[in-house]
Amino acid sequence: TDAHSLSYNITIDPRPRDGQPWCEVQGEVDQKVFLSYDCGRAKIKYMSPLGEEVKSMNAWEAQTDTLRDIGDLLKEQMTDVTPEKHLDKGPLTLQARMSCWQEDNGLISASWEFGFNGQLCLLFDSESGYWTMVHSKGRWMKEKWENDRAVTEFFKKVSRADCQRWYQDFLLHWEKMLKTTASPTTGPSTMQRMAPDSSYSTWIATGVLAGFVITIIIIACIHYKKRRRCSQEA
Ligand SMILES: *[C@@H]1O[C@H](CO)[C@@H](O)[C@H](O)[C@H]1NC(C)=O
Repeated sequence: TDAHSLSYNITIDPRPRDGQPWCEVQGEVDQKVFLSYDCGRAKIKYMSPLGEEVKSMNAWEAQTDTLRDIGDLLKEQMTDVTPEKHLDKGPLTLQARMSCWQEDNGLISASWEFGFNGQLCLLFDSESGYWTMVHSKGRWMKEKWENDRAVTEFFKKVSRADCQRWYQDFLLHWEKMLKTTASPTTGPSTMQRMAPDSSYSTWIATGVLAGFVITIIIIACIHYKKRRRCSQEA
């Protein structure tokens, strides 16, 4: 079987400006975005045929409910973060990335990454429950979360149980699509390459449809002329 990865980027901005969302989620499978979700307004965008393919599944709704819970929890966790507790002056935004992926042995692993103001700061291993600080801006949050069993258990549960279930449900439907759209390189450029592809197929579909309509008109004309000739001869 092919190993894939499912990730969710969650951005929390507790004090958003002019109508910006306070919580935004991007869902990706193998770096291809399939979901964009505004947790505050509960607004979903299906980002590609991958999203369209699975949007009517039960797992889809369970997923958006859980993403909302994640957004609420993260926002709540930020209420007592004051400028003295992080190293930047001014407003603080939080980036969280939850991932689950299939290992070579078939088992699914999960982890979290947390960043503040765009700087990656903390890693959480959902298997061991172990926190790693990769930037000092994450020290305060690491100490806070290490001592909060409920939060740690929530991160573990969502990434190991929920993400794993969505992975298994969605991948059954995606396996073929991911194979046909597979490219030798991965990364953000995959997104840019998908755009012209989909517009090419739109053009091809339009061309085929136009050809079909023209063929029908020609056939209809030939028949009409024949009929007229016959009735004149008769
Ligand atoms: C999600 O976050 C990762 C790491 O911060 C980044 O590399 C990736 O481009 C992000 N994806 C989207 C769709 O924003």
